[in-house]
Amino acid sequence: MKIAIIGTGYVGLVTGACFAEVGHQVLCVDNDPKKVEMLRGGGIPIYEPGLEDLVRRNVAAGRLDFTGSTAEGVERSEVIFIAVPTPPQNDGSVDLSFIEAVAREIAANLTRYRIIVDKSTVPVKTAEKVAETIRRYCKSKVEFDVVSNPEFLREGFAVDDLMKPDRIVIGVSSPRPETAMRELYAPFQAPFIVTDTNSAELIKHAANSFLALKISYANALSVVCEAAGANVQEVTRGMGLDARIGTRFLNAGLGFGGSCFPKDLSAFIQISTHLGYDFRLLKEVQRINAEQMDRFVKKITDTLWVLKDKQIGVLGLAFKQNTDDVRLSPAIDLCQRLIKDGARLRVNDPQAMEKAKSLLPPGPQVEYVSDMNAVPEGCDALVIATEWPEFTKLDLTRARKAMTTPIVVDGRNLFDPAEMEQHGFIYKSIGR
Ligand code: UGA
Repeated sequence: MKIAIIGTGYVGLVTGACFAEVGHQVLCVDNDPKKVEMLRGGGIPIYEPGLEDLVRRNVAAGRLDFTGSTAEGVERSEVIFIAVPTPPQNDGSVDLSFIEAVAREIAANLTRYRIIVDKSTVPVKTAEKVAETIRRYCKSKVEFDVVSNPEFLREGFAVDDLMKPDRIVIGVSSPRPETAMRELYAPFQAPFIVTDTNSAELIKHAANSFLALKISYANALSVVCEAAGANVQEVTRGMGLDARIGTRFLNAGLGFGGSCFPKDLSAFIQISTHLGYDFRLLKEVQRINAEQMDRFVKKITDTLWVLKDKQIGVLGLAFKQNTDDVRLSPAIDLCQRLIKDGARLRVNDPQAMEKAKSLLPPGPQVEYVSDMNAVPEGCDALVIATEWPEFTKLDLTRARKAMTTPIVVDGRNLFDPAEMEQHGFIYKSIGR
């Protein structure tokens, strides 16, 4: 099938590349000419495992192309995906101006039947608004359908999540686009859920909020475990092996961050309030998440006492493993707090160092260290802030010798407490 994807961010680019990989003809549209030029030249603006190969292979095969023209996308494609950002506003609600602008542009170029699919994470009733906008701005009376098709990919695992999804959710307001959507997704083996557009939109917010709730539950448990002298990893494992609960997304740590959970949680609380429901449960999820970082900073200050002029090594800047994304990263938040208290940082991340520099400029208080094993040199403490598996390979003997005081504060429970003690570290982690 011929498809256009408007917006080549994480979701748009990975979706386009995966659709091309299964044989569809994909045209990715972006209004940033530099990005289009980069992509056409074989460059990838984000770090995402497997993506570069996928893009290169499909561009070479002639199934994937890039353009700056929405008109071209609308003209050439039967199905048009909207995958533009929906950033948060100050009050927690979602800024839908990019979606609206794209809807108007599609309307201005619509000359025959098209299916317009919303992939961006949006508040319930957005598909209805998009349809209304297209109807309003379309010059002639052209038929079209608006479909909601939320995306569930995780950064860092995006290609895998897209190629092997747990489910595909399609929200339609008439039967006509269902056949095309089934054909489009036929190469992907997954349960196919067809529902109304409002339910489809709610599925996304409900799923992300529930996952955030699981993390906050684990983080709240970690506080109880610490006070009781229990081990949160043992407790969550014992709970999670109950198939009704599941072991995933129960890792206690620094709390959740990134461009999705914090934003979607705030948005869902707002949406519920507008619909007349005070979703206090989710407000508590937010509170626990914020408190988790406060507790962690306190753990560092309780150990080091005064932070001013202390040298602290920080492993991890990305908001989680396998990505170079630092947006709302707990690791960056942590670094900023330590700097504010006067500490000097030596930081490292396998992928996110470049992107981190805009939020954490190098200077007298922040030194970027390219080799993780060199980070502990001269440090009064070493902090683990992101769950990169690479960090477990840290040369502990070298670190122990290189540090001024052998203190490790692990915000991601990457190390075994007994082993760390054997190496001579004063080791603190979360809920253990
Ligand atoms: C999340 C969802 O997992 C995806 O299903 C969804 O499609 C995506 O948002 C989206 O809305 O676009 P993502 O933000 O890429 O994906 O990252 P996650 O892997 O969900 O991690 C989010 C945060 O939670 C990270 O800061 C991570 O460190 C933290 N986390 C995750 C924990 O603290 N504990 C866990 O057990 C799991």
